[in-house]
Amino acid sequence: MEKLFIPILLGSDREGRQSEKVARFVFDQAKVYGKFDTQFLDVKDFVQTAKTGAAMPSEKSKLWSEIMKRADGLVIVSPEYNHGYPGELKLMLDQLYQEYNRKPAGICGVSAGDLGGARMVEVLRICLIELQMVPIREAVYFPKAHDLFNEKGEIRDASYKERLQKFFAELAWYADALAKARKA
Ligand SMILES: Cc1cc2nc3c(=O)[nH]c(=O)nc-3n(C[C@H](O)[C@H](O)[C@H](O)COP(=O)(O)O)c2cc1C
Repeated sequence: MEKLFIPILLGSDREGRQSEKVARFVFDQAKVYGKFDTQFLDVKDFVQTAKTGAAMPSEKSKLWSEIMKRADGLVIVSPEYNHGYPGELKLMLDQLYQEYNRKPAGICGVSAGDLGGARMVEVLRICLIELQMVPIREAVYFPKAHDLFNEKGEIRDASYKERLQKFFAELAWYADALAKARKA
């Protein structure tokens, strides 16, 4: 079977962001999963001004469009900011529309508190529906982000690996089914 192209998008450009470690871990686990071609995307490399529709220079906008045209789905790793998602992630998502249509999206939430960004995940799903994406039920929640990794950068709780593999398997099911349906 041809591999599915599933980019991993980190949704915060905050200096000192803990979610970067989580996003890199999710990216590594996506490679372990084996059925995906993947690419690490950082919102900070795309969004440069806070102007809806003109949030990134045209060459970045073109690149983002090409990535999402090719993509069979999207994983978003995002922190929770005031029970929502970062403004820069919204600017990034609002840059495109048709490129997302009828493709699945999975969300990994990151937070300082106990809930792992659960409220952000719920809110982001509503936005993804409007982009005509298919947000999947499964999500992986990363609470207490500052304490998730040891000094060597390894995840302290190995069960996150298993949780991510289940999450990817569910995303792959939708990515595969929807890719076939889009081509039919
Ligand atoms: C503006 C702002 C709002 C935040 N709001 C929440 C929140 O609603 N719930 C929560 O658990 N943590 C909240 N946090 C803490 C972040 O979840 C925490 O910084 C965590 O490490 C993930 O975000 P980071 O990638 O920016 O580090 C907030 C942080 C910032 C900067």
